[in-house]
Amino acid sequence: MTNQPPTRPPLRLGILLSGRGSNFLAIADSIRHGRLPEVEIAVAISNVADAPGLTAARDLGLPTALHISKGKKREAHDAGLIACLNEHKVDLVILAGYMRLLSPAFIAAFHNRILNIHPSLLPAFPGLDAQTQAFDYGVKVAGCTVHFVDNDLDHGVIVLQRAIPVLATDDAHSLADRILVEEHIAYTEGIRMVASGEYEIQGRRYLRREY
Ligand code: GRF
Repeated sequence: MTNQPPTRPPLRLGILLSGRGSNFLAIADSIRHGRLPEVEIAVAISNVADAPGLTAARDLGLPTALHISKGKKREAHDAGLIACLNEHKVDLVILAGYMRLLSPAFIAAFHNRILNIHPSLLPAFPGLDAQTQAFDYGVKVAGCTVHFVDNDLDHGVIVLQRAIPVLATDDAHSLADRILVEEHIAYTEGIRMVASGEYEIQGRRYLRREY
């Protein structure tokens, strides 16, 4: 008998995306290169038929699903998503540019098991075009936030943030590009922190467990 620690099955991610999918691709790359050990992508789901991220997922040979949301009531659409995620035995839902609000029923079905990335240092600049909002406001420091999803927009418990200076030479586009570089690093790190299970949530605070 060897004294091997018990092995855990890999944590199964369900990716939701609507667009280009660069965050999804960064996560897939991290898994492929061993930066996210014991994590796998169970399914990538898009609500938009021609989302480049969905094509990229198919090209990678990952399980994919298309659940078109246009013209559907939020609850009915989300019921289909919940069924699909459960069918693929998803442990953690990753919003990767998913441009649709989730219903309370969805958030309850995956309580504290949904992560989002937002391109600002929350609570500043929630909502759309956060990078332009930040640039126009004249902030000197910008960045991104990985957070759990709750019933309010861009509001849940913060897992981590990455900050960058706003340069005198920036415009809103260059700032967004530089934030995106940080997003790709931050999402892998945030997923690793949550996948470890070595944390607790106290009120609004994510705390790593100390041993
Ligand atoms: C990212 O800026 C992310 O922060 C926001 O939506 C954008 C998605 O980009 N939630 P991509 O599809 O991952 O490239």
